[in-house]
Amino acid sequence: MDEKYQLSTLGVRAGQARTEFQEHAEALFLTSSFVFDNAAQAQARFVGGDPGVVYSRYTNPTVSMFQDRLAALEGAEACIGTASGMSAILAMAMSLLKSGDHIVCSAAVFGATVQLFNTYFGRFGVETTFVSPTRTDDWAKAAKPNTKLFFVETPSNPLTEVSDIPALAAIAKKAGALLAVDNVFCTPVLQRPLEMGADLVIHSATKHLDGQGRVLGGAVLGPARLVNEQMVPFLRTAGPSLSPFNAWVILKGLETLELRMRAQSAAALELARWLEGHRAVGRVFYPGLESHPQYALASRQQKAGGAVLSFEVKGGREAAWRLIDASKLISITANLGDVKTTITHPATTTHGRLSPEARAAAGITEGLVRVAVGLEAVADLQTDLESGLG
Ligand SMILES: Cc1ncc(COP(=O)(O)O)c(C=O)c1O
Repeated sequence: MDEKYQLSTLGVRAGQARTEFQEHAEALFLTSSFVFDNAAQAQARFVGGDPGVVYSRYTNPTVSMFQDRLAALEGAEACIGTASGMSAILAMAMSLLKSGDHIVCSAAVFGATVQLFNTYFGRFGVETTFVSPTRTDDWAKAAKPNTKLFFVETPSNPLTEVSDIPALAAIAKKAGALLAVDNVFCTPVLQRPLEMGADLVIHSATKHLDGQGRVLGGAVLGPARLVNEQMVPFLRTAGPSLSPFNAWVILKGLETLELRMRAQSAAALELARWLEGHRAVGRVFYPGLESHPQYALASRQQKAGGAVLSFEVKGGREAAWRLIDASKLISITANLGDVKTTITHPATTTHGRLSPEARAAAGITEGLVRVAVGLEAVADLQTDLESGLG
């Protein structure tokens, strides 16, 4: 679809491919395989001479619609859908790296990403150096002749630290490495990393892209020479493919993405300001607050602060758990990016598998609570939190 359309239009219209029935809503192709007219056509499809579909591990028309729509939103040449956000990171890294290669990764990425790089890629001779997401010079210092990949999540989870994407892109380029940005927190509505020089964008579609906490999914976006030529063959062979049903759900989620991101960001900002003035709360971490250390950078790089904020409750783990346990409205769940507001204690859940030292280095204290703001009335969320803050 024509890129000149605005984001809200692309979210609703891009990528749709109608069948002979001229359905208005996107069709769900719930089928694992496709039928060939004859043996010669089957052969042509397998060797690539005929572009038609073969098998849903390779491609599926509903998955293709999702991929094309998300590519339009991110301004990407190509996109692959994957079974989850983690399998997007796995597919990207498996396609690009080999034994002896080196990754420079932000120390403030999702816990499972740290495990994946350290434990599993480490087992196959890929070394990872973790660096500060905000001390840009450290990335240049950490780069080695064998560095192939820079990986960053911005804003980070759960402390919302903001990394300078154009600066990291320049350092990666100089080092001969690719920069991949996990864009889960912002989505293309608030931040388009490829326009800022990143080579690849990663999504957990499980989060805001679906937006209603229903299915797992993921995606990698970037130039066709990387995504189509390197990652698609891995996906076809190894099989962490996106299910057509999940693709259809997320495709419909993309239609309301812009509205949701704007509304949830506005609510998060209101809540962050309220928490900042609360006597039972210490620091509040939210990129839309003037007190945020990278406020200026976030204002340049993002259209709004996003839906996720975290804050330190005075009184450590006991006070944090008391707050969480008192919530009647907000859901106690580790997921984020849902229209239902969620609350979690990172030190004992999402980041619980990290060693205490690694957790302390990442700034995840015992009193830290993360709230991923949804679409409820802000006043109701405040009442709910107030009852636990005392
Ligand atoms: C920033 C970020 N990246 C990646 C993932 C992994 O996504 P998934 O759970 O879809 O595998 C998550 C999950 O919470 C996340 O928060």
